[in-house]
Amino acid sequence: MIPRRRIVFEFDDLADAVRALLAPPERAEADVAAFERAFARRVGVPHALATASGRDALDLILDGLGLRAGDELIVPAYTLGELLPLIAARGIVAVPADTDPASLNVTPDSVARRLGPRTRAVLVVHLLGAPCDIRAICALADEHGVPVIEDCAHALGARIDGCSVGAFGRAALFSLEATKPVAAFGGGVCATTDDALAAAIRARLSGRRRREWPAVRKALVKFAEEMVVRSPAYGFLARLMFSGRRAGRFDRFYRRAHERVRGVAGAFTGFQARLALRRLARVDARDRRLNRLRDELVARLPARFVVQRRDGIGTPACYNLVALYDGDVVALRAAAQRAGLDLGIGGEVMDDTARMLGFDDCPGAAHAYSRAVQIPLHDRMSRRRRERILATLDRVTGELR
Ligand SMILES: Cc1ncc(COP(=O)(O)O)c(C=O)c1O
Repeated sequence: MIPRRRIVFEFDDLADAVRALLAPPERAEADVAAFERAFARRVGVPHALATASGRDALDLILDGLGLRAGDELIVPAYTLGELLPLIAARGIVAVPADTDPASLNVTPDSVARRLGPRTRAVLVVHLLGAPCDIRAICALADEHGVPVIEDCAHALGARIDGCSVGAFGRAALFSLEATKPVAAFGGGVCATTDDALAAAIRARLSGRRRREWPAVRKALVKFAEEMVVRSPAYGFLARLMFSGRRAGRFDRFYRRAHERVRGVAGAFTGFQARLALRRLARVDARDRRLNRLRDELVARLPARFVVQRRDGIGTPACYNLVALYDGDVVALRAAAQRAGLDLGIGGEVMDDTARMLGFDDCPGAAHAYSRAVQIPLHDRMSRRRRERILATLDRVTGELR
């Protein structure tokens, strides 16, 4: 079975990170501070604050910006559904802005339609690494006197006119999860140009305990997961876990288990900072390779796949390869799986957050949600494997016609 993704375990990175476990606590402080400085330089903002996760960064930003119960926050109609509970937990009312069916991003028009007297902030996402029209959205939000928060969980490396995403809005969140461009087995970053916001978030972070164990445990769990995915038994296990009604149950189980492994909102650790620093230094080279492989695959995908339009704004980063399939997606996934190609079970792509919030007026998000499949891609993928993926997709889509 060809898996959808691959988590990289580089020996040198891990050896360096493990050394951090043995170092005195002051060393962890210094490593985290060094990572924050490097990240801020990279994004081109005065402040970068390392957090427990991308979600944690968003939570701290919402709090720091003073959003309170009853305030409205505009959110993308097609993004990670797990962002909604943390918004709801603060009593903030999330209002979805629809996504463009071609770019899969929110647009100035869709945001404008949702701006109202109770709007207190706008959250946008640069989905799958493709920048949204952030300048126009910031100008619009400015007219209404509300801040823009950029969700850059997928987009480290994306630029507009040489300027990194994350430097346009009032604040931005990045994720350092195991599958993200700079993977530190959890963790996130809040980047901001706002001194007062940075100080408020720093004050909240300073009370946290730095416990190394959750990230180390996450690394061990991810390593075990990766061994299963690479083993010959994976095909059998995948069929067992991902077929029919079991797929939904497995998705729920996996999300819950993931939450448990993620642990509490502690402080970013020395182990994570060392990993993240090394990977930050290589993120551009990784992205160039990934973009090149992605373009090669996209150029030869069967006609029934429409990939995200990414040539509109700036230079995209490559997060992963998602395509919208013009046909029965469930049948496609099942047939691909029988042919040894893991196209996932649906939950791994983004969620129709509009529907989750009870809105039925976001056709762009509904369209993307019902058709999206994630095609396997990683930056070390061999030519042979790429050829196998293309041949399998050709065969399977031909049979389903
Ligand atoms: C669009 C988007 N935003 C935010 C996040 C949250 O990141 P984390 O998993 O680090 O909390 C993710 C994670 O996958 C994401 O896909």
